[in-house]
Amino acid sequence: MYIRSLIHEARINPVGLNWRRFLLAVTPDGKVVGCAQIKPHYDGSSEFASLAVDPPHRGRGTARNLIEQLLKTSPHPIYLTCRSGLGPFYVRFGFRVADQNDLPPYFRRLKRLADIFLHGKHGEALLIMCRYDETSSLNTGSNTYLKLD
Ligand SMILES: CC(C)(COP(=O)(O)OP(=O)(O)OC[C@H]1O[C@@H](n2cnc3c(N)ncnc32)[C@H](O)[C@@H]1OP(=O)(O)O)[C@@H](O)C(=O)NCCC(=O)NCCS
Repeated sequence: MYIRSLIHEARINPVGLNWRRFLLAVTPDGKVVGCAQIKPHYDGSSEFASLAVDPPHRGRGTARNLIEQLLKTSPHPIYLTCRSGLGPFYVRFGFRVADQNDLPPYFRRLKRLADIFLHGKHGEALLIMCRYDETSSLNTGSNTYLKLD
């Protein structure tokens, strides 16, 4: 399975899937079963994005591994967007709901659009979360692999 199929299957944002930025979770027989990336935006902000795990491989800590691994080298602050139901999931990794009055332009615009288009749909709001960290080097190398047991 490739990045695009994982993202399609997970029904998450299919925009900006430059494979070079991705960290992939790979089984011993070489199957890609999970992915995530750090996406840079035009305003200089960075987003933890495209987290998806192949359904049969969920519940085994793959997402946790991908998040922890990517956050080791991520810039700060780092933002993410998710449906409100996933907020508690990301709090575990140090993300907090971002201050709406202090969002970078990219996320401010996204929030405005989501408020207009998602209002009242699916019963869930778009959450913008933020994490501050001590490390600051941007992960810009070729995509890396997380080997699974
Ligand atoms: C969300 C997703 C990435 C989780 O992947 P996963 O590999 O099953 O997650 P993990 O096994 O690493 O779970 C880590 C922890 O989060 C919890 N968790 C997993 N999915 C969760 C969810 N949807 N809501 C709340 N908690 C969740 C697990 O119970 C686990 O808790 P534990 O550490 O106490 O055991 C996966 O369900 C998925 O691909 N969903 C569709 C795409 C998606 O929603 N991506 C996020 C976009 S913002």
